[in-house]
Amino acid sequence: MSTKVLVAFATRYSSTQEVAEAVAASLQESGGAVDLQLLREVRTLAGYSAPVMGAPLFMLRWHKDALGFLSRHREGLMERSVAVFALGPVHEPYDEQKRKDSRAQLDRELARFIWFKPIAIEMFGGKYDPALLRFPISTLAGKGPASDLGNRKAIRGWASDLSRKLEPSEPRLSESG
Ligand SMILES: Cc1cc2nc3c(=O)[nH]c(=O)nc-3n(C[C@H](O)[C@H](O)[C@H](O)COP(=O)(O)O)c2cc1C
Repeated sequence: MSTKVLVAFATRYSSTQEVAEAVAASLQESGGAVDLQLLREVRTLAGYSAPVMGAPLFMLRWHKDALGFLSRHREGLMERSVAVFALGPVHEPYDEQKRKDSRAQLDRELARFIWFKPIAIEMFGGKYDPALLRFPISTLAGKGPASDLGNRKAIRGWASDLSRKLEPSEPRLSESG
């Protein structure tokens, strides 16, 4: 039976891709076989023991590709140990209350999928660059300064805890996608 891990992500401005790559690298270093894919391109979970899904929050919502992934792969996800991360808070200096606010947004989104019981959920700091925003989002988002709350150490620490949780990582019921 395969013990391959799938790290699947959605991104708009690439910071979630950077985090997904760091998570995948860390899981690989722990000895696992890992594939990295865009959430919207995942056709089946067959062959994967443990999906890790990551996506950013925008305008109080989780990225639509994450919500679409949960709807499309309900059966496969129910059979597997799934880990979730999201990117959100971008306010510098780091503010614990802002992190909790972002986490509450994520929890509200996940609560719509009552069957979904991830084994790990984490909120990482995001990246914000007003120069990348296009109209009308540039107007709606205001003129805050660029920021980067990405924390490599926290990301690698989470991935390393996760690799321990995923051992032995096998589909709970079947290999069906
Ligand atoms: C227009 C806009 C809206 C955002 N809305 C939220 C939000 O509602 N909640 C939150 O926690 N983060 C929000 N963020 C922060 C993003 O989640 C953060 O910038 C993240 O790193 C973006 O990920 P990406 O680079 O992979 O696209 C917002 C960012 C932008 C640019």
